[in-house]
Amino acid sequence: MSRYQAILDCVRAARADFDAQRFEQAARAYQRASRLMAQFAKDAATQSEEQYRRRKALEYREKAQSLLARAQRPEEKPLAEKEAVSERQDPLRDIVSSFYAAPQVSWEDIGGLDDVKRDLRFTLALSLATPPEGVRLPAWRNLLFYGPPGTGKTLLAAGAAKAVADLATDQCAFFNVKVSSVLSKYFGESAKIISSLYAAARNASPSVVFFDEFESLTPDRESEESGPAWRILSTILAEMDGLAEKGRQTYVLTIAATNLPWKMDQAVLSRFEKRVLIPPPDTPARARMLRLFIEKPGFTFDGDYQTLAEDTEGCTGRELEQLCKRALNHMLLEQNAQLPAYLDGPLDALRAHRIAVRPLRAEDFRPLLESMTPSVTPKVIAPFLAYQSGES
Ligand SMILES: Nc1ncnc2c1ncn2[C@@H]1O[C@H](COP(=O)(O)OP(=O)(O)OP(=O)(O)O)[C@@H](O)[C@H]1O
Ligand SMILES: [Mg+2]
Repeated sequence: MSRYQAILDCVRAARADFDAQRFEQAARAYQRASRLMAQFAKDAATQSEEQYRRRKALEYREKAQSLLARAQRPEEKPLAEKEAVSERQDPLRDIVSSFYAAPQVSWEDIGGLDDVKRDLRFTLALSLATPPEGVRLPAWRNLLFYGPPGTGKTLLAAGAAKAVADLATDQCAFFNVKVSSVLSKYFGESAKIISSLYAAARNASPSVVFFDEFESLTPDRESEESGPAWRILSTILAEMDGLAEKGRQTYVLTIAATNLPWKMDQAVLSRFEKRVLIPPPDTPARARMLRLFIEKPGFTFDGDYQTLAEDTEGCTGRELEQLCKRALNHMLLEQNAQLPAYLDGPLDALRAHRIAVRPLRAEDFRPLLESMTPSVTPKVIAPFLAYQSGES
């Protein structure tokens, strides 16, 4: 069955359930349709096709959550009946849905950062569980990740969305917004885009809204150009405040990430309830990540991960990933030198040929390590540590 057919089947099932007033089943079917559509979007051949699929994925997601609310709280009007028209007329809708993704990252995919993960999981659970009668818990609804490039900030945000999904035993909508590109592409409209974004995030709740490269919102007081940056910032802050009052039924977690926390306006940063340094990996974390990057795709290593980890002092997760990819490539080239010759023969022969692999060895890494300069030097990490100690 084609993937498209599978999506159509889900939607058809959802409609049938809706007509029969089985709202919860209808919601589950829309959730499945949304998840499939979001995955389908990633494989789109053209941008407009991708855009269309993301919009559909978001639309199904919103319908699902609205129907769930209706199933749990009959007094609430479902989105499927009340809106539709106004939502579709929102000209910013396409832009907002282009940020929408289904998070695929699980905690196991994130190497190291154990304290951060534990903290984050606790925070999420605290926000979603029911407090004792008469007690108002502080709800963590916004976080800031800061740290050097390639240490896993984006990955953690996606992981948080996945964790909310697991906690809430359904999916969690994930909106991944690169702030610099919103500013450059949609300049004057950018604050309106943020409002539309939060409207969608509320409809799709539980959701995670992730702002990457948050420092590009650092307004330069001297410059006239920075008007939109201020407007975006104040819109984000207002939306965060507004959400705090929404109660626990609507859960939207805002996560911002930056490599340059000291460049940002301190008053703005202080509005984030939790600011977390995402440090470069230590030796055990590097060992775990190396194992992950080699063994998750199904390869093996005949050497000692601990030793390799010690030899990669100063590497970030991103650099370790590149290192492993390069080592794997060399091994594949070496083992399959004859492969290109098959291109001159019949396709069947090429298809029938099985690619040769062997376990990686410590020697495979040696030349690569020699030609590599790890990016995290004491000089790079010092300002982050200084910033952190200024924080606490
Ligand atoms: N802790 C980690 N565990 C597993 N993979 C990691 C980790 N850190 C980085 N990586 C790998 O490096 C890539 C880049 O990580 P990510 O995009 O999360 O970094 P970042 O901190 O957001 O960087 P930047 O500041 O440049 O945006 C990831 O796709 C992942 O493959
Ligand atoms: Mg990132």
